[in-house]
Amino acid sequence: MTAIPYDKDTASELIANHGARPELLVQILHSVLEHFTWIPEAAIRQLAEELNLSRADVHGVVSFYHDFRTTPPGKHVVRICQAEACQAMGSRELSAYAESTLGLKMHETTEDLTLEPVYCLGNCACSPAVMVDGDTYGRVDKKRFDDILDAMKGTD
Ligand code: FES
Repeated sequence: MTAIPYDKDTASELIANHGARPELLVQILHSVLEHFTWIPEAAIRQLAEELNLSRADVHGVVSFYHDFRTTPPGKHVVRICQAEACQAMGSRELSAYAESTLGLKMHETTEDLTLEPVYCLGNCACSPAVMVDGDTYGRVDKKRFDDILDAMKGTD
């Protein structure tokens, strides 16, 4: 995943696409995230200005939702579901395995990799679920996790 340099005009367009409505802040943040791959401080300032909100309001929403990363992601993004159904099927153990295998804690990023928790990928029937570079995988045990990571490295 390549972080796109922040650009005020593009951000303005994204905001305008939602009618610059402050009640749509979450949806606008998703659009900003989708486009730039992260939400820089400049975006928070601009959103506050253009939506007539305080910076604290925007910060509050950004920090409330785990999806809104505020640092650029690594080349690959590995997300492991931590919500209830996946927890019941071993996602905590899988997360611990991922952290030790990758040498990264949750929310950490290297140039190559970002490891993130996620709270439901809509794949609860196939828990535990993992998303790698936007692709969702179900029933992921340690062996399958290793296979997915090997396939991911094969795309470099
Ligand atoms: S709880 Fe993990 S995919 Fe829904």
